[in-house]
Amino acid sequence: MDIYEALKERRSVRKYASDPVPEEKLNKVLEAAQVAPSWKNKQCWRFIVVRNPERKEQLAASMPESNPARRAVGETAPIVIVLCADTEGSGDKDGKDYYMLDAGLAFQQLMLAAYAEGLGTCWVGLFDEEKVREACAVPSEFRVVALTPLGVPAKQPSPRPRKDLSEITYSEEWGHSFIS
Ligand SMILES: Cc1cc2nc3c(=O)[nH]c(=O)nc-3n(C[C@H](O)[C@H](O)[C@H](O)COP(=O)(O)O)c2cc1C
Repeated sequence: MDIYEALKERRSVRKYASDPVPEEKLNKVLEAAQVAPSWKNKQCWRFIVVRNPERKEQLAASMPESNPARRAVGETAPIVIVLCADTEGSGDKDGKDYYMLDAGLAFQQLMLAAYAEGLGTCWVGLFDEEKVREACAVPSEFRVVALTPLGVPAKQPSPRPRKDLSEITYSEEWGHSFIS
């Protein structure tokens, strides 16, 4: 698949069909995350693949009821992937902790590869971290960064709006229009 198609057509999927995820596809999306760039190549990320229905329910229970991805995590998606990061396993510079960035890059690669494999994902950031830690026995030196459901989308969601390029891009100096 053309990379630009994956970049433009990936969506946050919150409704899943009941089809299983073939092991081969699951491995491919995890391998896409594995090759992400990271601070000094330290690869501070860890991924927990959850299929057990009771554990998926526990993960959903960590999310507020208002979270639109709650049902996908607890019920409809056959797999949930929990993204963890070693807080001491990356680097920091001028107060910027890079473990979050490293982990985020890996998850973005995972989400794009999932799209290329005909699978849906949805970055979930709103959850009670301690509940997820308990559900999946995550050790204290790791933070739980995100979750995503993984499965065959029930439908392709509509695109969400994006800011215009002129609002987010400058030429040479802050505030100087990029697009003439
Ligand atoms: C850091 C972060 C946290 C997010 N948390 C949630 C969440 O808890 N629940 C949810 O349904 N979507 C969540 N999303 C998905 C965003 O709502 C979604 O990416 C955004 O609306 C753009 O839509 P798109 O991904 O379909 O392009 C999160 C995305 C990011 C990057």
